[in-house]
Amino acid sequence: MRRPTAAALVAVAILTAALALATSIVVNFKLNAAAERERLQAQQANLQKETAENERRRAEREKTEAIGMRIIETPQDPERTEILRDPRSGFIAYVPAGSIKKGEALVNTGGSRTEACGVCHGAELQGLGPVPGIAGRSPSYIVRQMFDMQAGARHGEWADLMKPVVAKLTDEDLVNIAAYVSSRPPK
Ligand code: HEC
Repeated sequence: MRRPTAAALVAVAILTAALALATSIVVNFKLNAAAERERLQAQQANLQKETAENERRRAEREKTEAIGMRIIETPQDPERTEILRDPRSGFIAYVPAGSIKKGEALVNTGGSRTEACGVCHGAELQGLGPVPGIAGRSPSYIVRQMFDMQAGARHGEWADLMKPVVAKLTDEDLVNIAAYVSSRPPK
């Protein structure tokens, strides 16, 4: 009676140990699989985030919008202008399509809203006596000055002569005039 009991106990003990081991292996395996799945999911989420960010940057780079009634001035060589402050490095002005032609008509004839500029600024807009040359100047400068004259914010000795010139000009006229005047070669 005693022997079989001892043998049975040993067998039960071995079986229990084996079962415990098997269970722990299975549990471990499941835990590992869950951790791996989480890692992969995190990696995938990261990848998706990166892709979305890259996509956003690409769209940002390629974004364009119509120029409308605007003049965009930018240095020809940003490094020379912005960093080295080289006064000989030029600028590019992007102007609305057709603006130079419309400006030319206003500048040369005055049309119904202004006076021909050459009468005072010289035939090639290079200046005449005390009247400053305006050919080839920065378009933003030209618009700024004429805008200030309209607003009565420019009080030069001769500024009154410009009052009737700018009085009836619309913002669009100012852009057209600046586009043409700036496109003329300076002396
Ligand atoms: C009756 C004469 C006269 C006519 C016509 C005239 N101007 Fe002038 N303009 C002047 C005078 C004088 C000044 C200088 C004003 C001052 O000293 O403040 C001036 C200044 C300017 C300035 C500022 C220049 C600077 O160096 O700051 C601009 C820009 C300008 N005129 C544009 C024009 C345009 C564009 C036209 C034609 C649509 C025009 N002017 C027609 C007399 C004239």
